[in-house]
Amino acid sequence: MARGVQKCLRLAVATVALTALTLLVSPKEAAIRNYSPPTTLPKSNIPDPNAPQGPLRIPGYELRKAYAGAAWRRGPALVEEAKRRVDPGMPPLEERVFLVTGATKGHGLETTARLLDAGCTVIMHGKIEGRLRKWALDMGEAFETDKIDPVLCDLSESEEVEALANLIAEKHPRIHGILHNAATIDGKFTGKRKYTWNYKMEHTMAVNAIAPFQLTSLLMPQLNAAGSARVMFSTSPTMSGDNYLDDIKCERYWTGLHSYRLSKLCLEMVAKEMHLRYGNAPNLTFHSFHPGSANTKLMRQGAAAGTGRKLQRNKKVPHDQPSYLPTPRSRKTSFFAMVDDVYQRQSGTFVSDGNVKSKAIDDDKARATLWEEFTEISGAKWPEPHGSLPEPQDATSELLEA
Ligand SMILES: NC(=O)c1ccc[n+]([C@@H]2O[C@H](COP(=O)([O-])OP(=O)(O)OC[C@H]3O[C@@H](n4cnc5c(N)ncnc54)[C@H](OP(=O)(O)O)[C@@H]3O)[C@@H](O)[C@H]2O)c1
Repeated sequence: MARGVQKCLRLAVATVALTALTLLVSPKEAAIRNYSPPTTLPKSNIPDPNAPQGPLRIPGYELRKAYAGAAWRRGPALVEEAKRRVDPGMPPLEERVFLVTGATKGHGLETTARLLDAGCTVIMHGKIEGRLRKWALDMGEAFETDKIDPVLCDLSESEEVEALANLIAEKHPRIHGILHNAATIDGKFTGKRKYTWNYKMEHTMAVNAIAPFQLTSLLMPQLNAAGSARVMFSTSPTMSGDNYLDDIKCERYWTGLHSYRLSKLCLEMVAKEMHLRYGNAPNLTFHSFHPGSANTKLMRQGAAAGTGRKLQRNKKVPHDQPSYLPTPRSRKTSFFAMVDDVYQRQSGTFVSDGNVKSKAIDDDKARATLWEEFTEISGAKWPEPHGSLPEPQDATSELLEA
């Protein structure tokens, strides 16, 4: 009985103490505690007379100060490292102009930031106007630079690629490097086969392989004018589909992953052909590289354990699965691919030099056939090759003969 009374007394004392504590909190503190920040920016109709013209004229520009974006930090150690990798006699990083496609997300966004930090001029390509403007403004402020030229283009249409190349050529007579980074998967992330390029090409193939092919051909004069330039193709060791090179439109067989892997195989093959036809180190070089696995939208959609929508793949979406991949921010391969002059001294290092099983990449005949097909589909006009092209040989038939 006495114990029960004691317990009740203790409870009463604790309650009184808590109430007293609550009363001690000032109304201001209480307001701060209860404050929840607005999720949207206030609407403004006031036009900014000083807003820049061209691609930077996007509604909402005047609110740029109010937007608190991702914190872009300078990386002095990384810049030092990049400068150490520049060969004497080559243009300093501050004088180089790079085009980065798909620069508004993932590896492309990170590489753009690092290039700007190193003092380079970046032609920043994006597909969505608002996103492009947002990141261009953000990075301009963060790195205190105006050496950003945002350009807009959906790489899934031939006319748009042509317009993009014309726009770039008008403004930049010299380009020291192109990073072909933009890529898509799964029929524009719908999980359905999608046709584009004036309904002539499967969507993933058009964006990942045909567009970079056409864009490179259109910018050849600017690359040659730079004196030392490189074209870097971001591919993947998952490339495959030797048996489907006669079906690049994916009419016979389609899955999101199949068209992605096939597009990367085709890209690797035409990149190798470009190297053989036009590679002329240290003036103009062609390489492919693997940017490193990272937790990006593309990866989340493509990976078996990813959390992207997989409508047609009939897979459970493992929403609660924690990501095991690093963020693109921790990946610097694409950045060094653009600035390291080891890629200028020689042409022709490829992802397929490593552990890739495809035989078609080393098949001269298969590459030449694909080149013809790509040229026809894209309408690309290439200059005369420099003449060191090997006679087309069928590597598979050679193997059979042996
Ligand atoms: N992440 C990895 O683990 C991994 C592994 C191997 C290879 N890669 C390669 O790395 C490169 C970058 O991929 P990521 O992982 O960084 O992917 P991501 O974050 O999804 O970025 C892809 C970029 O491509 C752009 N893009 C997509 N479709 C486009 C279109 N139709 N027109 C213009 N731009 C378009 C996107 O623009 P929006 O921002 O407007 O959507 C985005 O900026 C790709 O070539 C990929 O194959 C990545």
